Amino acid sequence: MLVSAKEMLTKAKAGHYAVGQFNINNLEWTKAILTAAQEMNSPAILGVSEGAGKYMTGFKTVTAMVKAMDEALGITVPIALHLDHGTYEGCKACVEAGFTSIMFDGSSYSIDENKAKTEELVKLAHDNGLSIEAEVGSIGGEEDGVVGMGECADPDECKMIADLGVDMLAAGIGNIHGIYPDNWAGLQFDVLDAIQQKTGAMPLVLHGGSGIPEEMIKKAIDLGVSKVNVNTECQLVFAAATREYIEAGKDKEGKGYDPRKLLAPGAKAIEEETKAKIKLFGSDGKA
Ligand code: 13P
Repeated sequence: MLVSAKEMLTKAKAGHYAVGQFNINNLEWTKAILTAAQEMNSPAILGVSEGAGKYMTGFKTVTAMVKAMDEALGITVPIALHLDHGTYEGCKACVEAGFTSIMFDGSSYSIDENKAKTEELVKLAHDNGLSIEAEVGSIGGEEDGVVGMGECADPDECKMIADLGVDMLAAGIGNIHGIYPDNWAGLQFDVLDAIQQKTGAMPLVLHGGSGIPEEMIKKAIDLGVSKVNVNTECQLVFAAATREYIEAGKDKEGKGYDPRKLLAPGAKAIEEETKAKIKLFGSDGKA
């Protein structure tokens, strides 16, 4: 069931658990994540970066595929189709294409420009029934060319952006997209706590969810994180399972080269990884 992310995140914040955002790249990814969410009776958010949107030939293609698949698989749990790290133009395109949620990443603008653009997009999103995520302070690492320095957000700026009426807020707390370096300092819980104190009931979003130790994830959820984004870990398990299949020579046995067989172990691995994350975030049974 395709819905905005508003209600699922309000419930998560009140219930002290988090909803996973799992990024999608193609049909197999989408099917695996929808299947996992349904089996775990959990809400879930399908994240689409602008790069992944382009790869799948555009946001309209993505909406058509997700809507049809949601129906064909008989998905009854709440699913949001969400733009990840959207530009101003990308946000407008996703509203037009029928997404149910958007993220405007204005973290590279000055706080005043971030505020002005976020304000405008909040109105556009809400007028069209979508939820909207905003971001304060950049997040470390690189994703689709968006580079951040791993900075931490300023709690007062977080309050300023939260007060614009966004439905969820991403704030840097030392988190990084992609694989964490060996010398990573860890999540800055004092910063998270200060942001939580200022923003109250606002669901907070933890980006760069892959590779963060489980205890840190749990503590972040205790301190007010209601949405955790995961991308890299699903890519890694997909690649490992596909490698294992080919290295075992299975593509050369019978019709093992058939893409429906060749991609099956990777898709299964994404499904299992998604289920494990849903369990860790505590959203199982919360649909
Ligand atoms: P990872 O790829 O590090 O899991 O980050 C995902 C993310 O934050 C998407 O916005």
